[in-house]
Amino acid sequence: MAALLQTAPDTVAAAARRVMARCDELARVSATAGGIERVYLSPEHARVNRLAAQWMREIGMTTRLDAAGNQVGRLERSTASGAPDLDAPALVLGSHLDTVPDAGRYDGIVGVLMGLEVVRMLRVPGPDGTGWRSPLPFALEVVAFSDEEGTRFGKALLGSSAVAGTWDPDWWDLTDADGVTLREAFAEFGLDPGRVGEAARRPEELAGYLEAHIEQGPELDERGESLAVVSSIASARRFQLVVEGEARHAGGTPYDRRRDALLGASEAALAIERVCRAEHHVIGTVGQLEAYPGAVNIVPGEARLSLDLRGEFDDARDDVWTSIERELDVITGRRGLRWHAREVHSAPAVFCAPLLQDVVREGIVSTLGRGVDDPATIFSRAGHDAMAIGSVTDVGMLFLRNPDGISHHPDEAVSAGDVAYGTRALAESVLQLAADRAVSAG
Ligand code: GLV
Ligand code: MN
Ligand code: MN
Repeated sequence: MAALLQTAPDTVAAAARRVMARCDELARVSATAGGIERVYLSPEHARVNRLAAQWMREIGMTTRLDAAGNQVGRLERSTASGAPDLDAPALVLGSHLDTVPDAGRYDGIVGVLMGLEVVRMLRVPGPDGTGWRSPLPFALEVVAFSDEEGTRFGKALLGSSAVAGTWDPDWWDLTDADGVTLREAFAEFGLDPGRVGEAARRPEELAGYLEAHIEQGPELDERGESLAVVSSIASARRFQLVVEGEARHAGGTPYDRRRDALLGASEAALAIERVCRAEHHVIGTVGQLEAYPGAVNIVPGEARLSLDLRGEFDDARDDVWTSIERELDVITGRRGLRWHAREVHSAPAVFCAPLLQDVVREGIVSTLGRGVDDPATIFSRAGHDAMAIGSVTDVGMLFLRNPDGISHHPDEAVSAGDVAYGTRALAESVLQLAADRAVSAG
């Protein structure tokens, strides 16, 4: 595969160093001291948006904050005369700047910053010093999505859903841990809930979407490889489960008179593990478990637990949920408890477009050169903004090796060397796509 990118190795290495330094800089913007936490519509969200906008302007992009708090930068396509073509469709390079609690510094962030470096590598000067242009058959945009993780409101992919035009008005009443509704948080951030529809993009405005991301799993590390093509992104459902029993005196209540909601919930968590383990490529996690009223001398009368369920295919994931429902009926029936669930997030599996898988593969092969003619193709178990964007345009993803597969943890890592390979491969992928578009247009 012939490389199309005419950029010196030193330039790519400098780009990778800038990405790593900016990941460190963004990591300092946190709601918690000594850790990283940035949630949707928070003061930290506003601060990282300002930094991203500054970096976008530095490389000649025009910037705007969209109606859902996503930070967008755009580099216009050049017409034959060098004037900007304001109506050209855009290839979007993106990922997210929000984080989980006690996060690592690369999940999402590295993809946004690599997108900026790709724009820096590919841009050409406009005529007579009138800024910078995209020399490709499309404009280039970088989007720093505002909420991929769903940390604050439980519902993931809020920012990218707004861009995809799939915002659900029921979400306005979601609340955060302090009881603030999503509608109130919009207003506090300076956004108008009534205008969220303006963030939506039309398919004809877009030439596709490419996202670079750390793998968040061990496969590349185990294979000793730097980069992978993503084939599809797992389908996901999230539930808030409530188990109800009866709160009673911890000393005075014999075991046979107890209806202990926490024990029911604990047994449910173990049953969830058993059911998911029995199904290939479905994985379930209980990440939150709380007992109420939560006193040392009271048998818990209520327990609340979260369930995050993911699968390569929607039907297998849904069959597992049906089995979990049956297990919950049995466990709560045996213990004299009741249970109910509220589904807070649902996203179908999304398949990366064959053409975008091809260009990412070509980007990797031409970057890594000899010996890597068949790079790894991986199904993503983690969720990504590409899932939401897949409903409005074709999506493709590039994975970077994530040592030990550790993510959603402060030890999350990626090497500068792999960021350099990844940035070059992403730029190559964009050029391969541009070459393909030029051929189909001609
Ligand atoms: C996002 O990182 C998710 O997959 O939960
Ligand atoms: Mn994440
Ligand atoms: Mn992510």
